[in-house]
Amino acid sequence: MKTLLLTWWTGYIWSHNAVLLLEQWYQVILFDNLSNSDKSTVENIKEIAASSLLGKERVERSLKFYEGDLRNTSDLEKVFSENTIDTVIHFAWAKAVGESCEKPFEYYENNVVGTLNLTKVMEKHNCKNIIFSSSATVYDPSQTPPFSEETKTGNTTNPYGTTKFLIENILRDLATHADFRVINLRYFNPVWAHESGLIGEDPNDIPNNLLPFIMKVAAGELTELSVFGNDYDTVDGTGVRDYIHVVDLAQWHLSALKHLESNTTHLLYENINLGTWAGTSVMEMITFTEEIIGASLPHKIVARRPWDIASAYCSPDKAEKLLWWKAEKSVKQAIDDSWNFIQQKKS
Ligand code: UFG
Repeated sequence: MKTLLLTWWTGYIWSHNAVLLLEQWYQVILFDNLSNSDKSTVENIKEIAASSLLGKERVERSLKFYEGDLRNTSDLEKVFSENTIDTVIHFAWAKAVGESCEKPFEYYENNVVGTLNLTKVMEKHNCKNIIFSSSATVYDPSQTPPFSEETKTGNTTNPYGTTKFLIENILRDLATHADFRVINLRYFNPVWAHESGLIGEDPNDIPNNLLPFIMKVAAGELTELSVFGNDYDTVDGTGVRDYIHVVDLAQWHLSALKHLESNTTHLLYENINLGTWAGTSVMEMITFTEEIIGASLPHKIVARRPWDIASAYCSPDKAEKLLWWKAEKSVKQAIDDSWNFIQQKKS
């Protein structure tokens, strides 16, 4: 049985992924400093996994949790010395673009220094397989979508994006010079709600991202949505993004893992876009939501955010061919599942 380390796994967001991996007979180790989640999530994962095909006893044997911080090499040493790890799935930790502009050093330390510590310890313990959660934000903002993996990268507009860009480059060097085998998954805009309605995103504070904000307005917890700009060169002047469903995202991770395992070549370095081909504008997101909730969604047009670009969507051709997975869930489905999750949470 292969052993996976999931780093910076941020609670509920990746619960579904952890369950999927357990179901595929992996030994799963979760590593997190709990700054964004709490320990009860580990118990939830165990419960969901045990109630599926797995049974309680096997889940207890197959899932471990280490509380630790990637900035502390000793925390990582402990995990690697107590386990033989085959592959690391290195999820994002600090992921808010606006926050990264206010706290750039925190982002460099968490993301870049954390990754350096991780890869150093991996090297020491001869674990060289890594799947990294990268982002659409690595693409040069002057480029025109749909972005392919060959589209120019760099010129990032914020520290968060810069950390992703730097980490990709560090991993490329490690693939070339230190025999690491790397897959960078470039997520477009994930929507974190599972179709079961049990797992989803409902931040306690004011959300940074569009759909969680829309959901709070729809649920009456916030009064109105601010639409950041309606004078972009897009279908209706509002920002266009490529929204992906967490269920597809989890499948892509599993496929990336299988690709890493089945590809026996020594050298492996891939950048892969995870998206749908489709761009959806903010106004379209509002209209879809209104159709689903059966009510109008209060909103007003305000100024652009300084780091935003007009339009970001991709060609996921490579993901479809190499990972054999094509997004199955539409943006409407993602909104529907998010609404279902919020309602179940309230009841
Ligand atoms: N938007 C609004 N109002 C809001 C929030 C967002 O109008 O209250 C608009 C934005 O201007 C943008 C679109 O909705 O046009 C999406 O914005 P998000 O903040 O949800 O997402 P971003 O595209 O800015 O960033 C997201 C992730 C990043 C990731 C990036 C990759 O937050 O981590 O996608 O494309 F890097």
